[in-house]
Amino acid sequence: MDDKAIKEEVSKLRDEINYHNYRYYVLDNPVISDSEYDTLFKRLERLEKENPHLITPESPTRRIGAKPLKEFGTLTHVVPMLSLGNISQPEEAVEFDARIKRLLKTDEEIEYVAEPKLDGLAVELVYIDGKFSAGSTRGDGYIGEDITLNLKTIKSIPMRLLTRSVSGGENPVPSRLDIRGEVIIPLKAFEEFNREREDLGESLFANPRNAAAGSLRQLDPRVTAGRPLDIFCYGVGTVEGVNFSSHFETLSALKAWGFKVNPLISICRGIQEAIKYHREMEEKRNGLPYELDGVVLKVNSLMLQQRLGELSRSPRWAVAYKFKPRRATTRIIDIIPSVGRTGAITPAAHMEPVKIGGATIEHSTLHNQDEIDRKDIRIGDRVVVERAGDVIPKVVSVIKDRRTGSEAPFKMPSRCPLCNSAVIKEGAIHRCTGGLACPAQLKESIKHFASKQAMNIDGLGDKYVEQLFENGLLHDVADIYSIDKNDLLKLERFAERSSQNLIDSIEKSKKTTLPRFIYALGIRHVGEHTARVLAEEFGSLESLMDAAYEELINVKEIGPETAESIVSFFHESHNIDVIEKLKRAGVVWSNVGKKDGSLLGKNFVFTGALSLFKRSEAKELVEKEGGRVLSAVSGKVDYVVVGAEPGSKLDEAKRLNIKTITEEEFKKILGL
Ligand code: IVH
Repeated sequence: MDDKAIKEEVSKLRDEINYHNYRYYVLDNPVISDSEYDTLFKRLERLEKENPHLITPESPTRRIGAKPLKEFGTLTHVVPMLSLGNISQPEEAVEFDARIKRLLKTDEEIEYVAEPKLDGLAVELVYIDGKFSAGSTRGDGYIGEDITLNLKTIKSIPMRLLTRSVSGGENPVPSRLDIRGEVIIPLKAFEEFNREREDLGESLFANPRNAAAGSLRQLDPRVTAGRPLDIFCYGVGTVEGVNFSSHFETLSALKAWGFKVNPLISICRGIQEAIKYHREMEEKRNGLPYELDGVVLKVNSLMLQQRLGELSRSPRWAVAYKFKPRRATTRIIDIIPSVGRTGAITPAAHMEPVKIGGATIEHSTLHNQDEIDRKDIRIGDRVVVERAGDVIPKVVSVIKDRRTGSEAPFKMPSRCPLCNSAVIKEGAIHRCTGGLACPAQLKESIKHFASKQAMNIDGLGDKYVEQLFENGLLHDVADIYSIDKNDLLKLERFAERSSQNLIDSIEKSKKTTLPRFIYALGIRHVGEHTARVLAEEFGSLESLMDAAYEELINVKEIGPETAESIVSFFHESHNIDVIEKLKRAGVVWSNVGKKDGSLLGKNFVFTGALSLFKRSEAKELVEKEGGRVLSAVSGKVDYVVVGAEPGSKLDEAKRLNIKTITEEEFKKILGL
């Protein structure tokens, strides 16, 4: 092929790939299969590799930069990125409308465009001659941070404007086009992302907004590429060479160029319709896949917008009409410390019940004494509480003006409220030193022992452990195995059938695996993953029990704290007795081949429906060989196993250039 033909093919491939990206990520309506897409993508990759002079920064193969930045540069917004005035009441909306009519000297109804106001991070995207060339944060409205490389990783941001829209029309290509939009993380993806972080022992984000902001502020675009970011575009800055007459027309053009525009945007004739829109959106809010904090009303006519002009920081032609906050004020009746499985004492606020977004809030964790001191929270204080998305309610701040002088500071007790053992402070955490002599710790460790990831005793959930414990049937975890059906039948909620079921699942749980058993013991700092590492390293419980501190810290991934906690756990005679008692009760596990896992250090992700394995089986097989199964695709993943009708994880894998394998290939890797 001559150079010209190659160039043409490359350009055609890019157009095609961009189009299919758009079908998938923006319209959520793909028209080719993943493997067809793959073929196109690989072909382009090959041609670019053989002809590096043809590589351009906006090629679909270049979404993920290879190197981290040292720092972000800055970019100036040609048209400043203004913010919006806020209102929250219908009367204020009427007033906003009246002012507009006054300024325009008209009595006629104003046409508004009403848009959902997403809670994320405002960004600007610059397209030069139809190609994505730069992107930035809002910054101070005039100058923002240059986050071009990070924005490139968001698949719903087009790298090139679509020149032919889906409806078939030809789109103009402005010499320069600045787009504004809001980068968000959808709620489900946020929860999954946080769960994954929790599994890995990383700190959690408080809400999707913070997670989106944090993800865009990464100096390494490869990190950003692994985050579930999305964007909705809602306006333009400067546009050279194309004229619009209304905002709605602008939005239609954005759609045609391939940007994601919120489908809930609607034209409202007159302010009453806009108020109705606001009410409807507020009702819809809980069912939407992302956080909304209100709606934005914009005068539709650009001519009228111009006549209205702007104040120093916000336009007169638009307003943010907020929803009722998911915040409320209430009073802290008491602060009650509760003791967890590892003895950590967590103070919880008990509050006068208050309704937020349909739910009644009465309790909120205050985390620890340092947090209470930092926010200066006292018993009797009036406080602001917040419930965002599905996230647990939290105390945001104290209303200090409302103090009467009778509020009492909270001090963590120096003795455990349940067992009277001494309380020590480690970092920010207060801890009861009573160990299993403390009823709270005992009860929590039994719950842990029975839990799904540990001994997996079906039907012995937290509530039932509480009940058996309160009825004196459990004094240590091993007592679970001497529960008798007749004991159960005497209890409330237990009938013949349910008692037999529980007895059966207790029996079934006796056959377990070494990693599960180690995890079930509830040794501090030994989570599921560490338990697996220990099982692989030591091969048997006996060798682990015999392991000295030096031996333990030599194991990769085991730090001094964990090593120390393992040693002291097995030095405690009570723990040895319980292990013996469990063995006598018939609890067995097979020892693990010492560190011979063929998948040691390998991370897997599954997507789509598997036909040869159940997910749980596949997970166990991977783990048996020393590998890990993660819930989301990121740079850490080695293989993505693709079943039938795979989800977005497959595309994620392609973008990140992670090996994808079929179930058959997966079987081979496992040596099956
Ligand atoms: S319009 C002059 N439309 O809300 C117009 N903003 O203070 C300014 N936002 O910084 C923005 N959804 O981050 C507009 N549909 C929407 C929006 C929206 C979210 C954010 C944006 C802006 C803030 C307004």
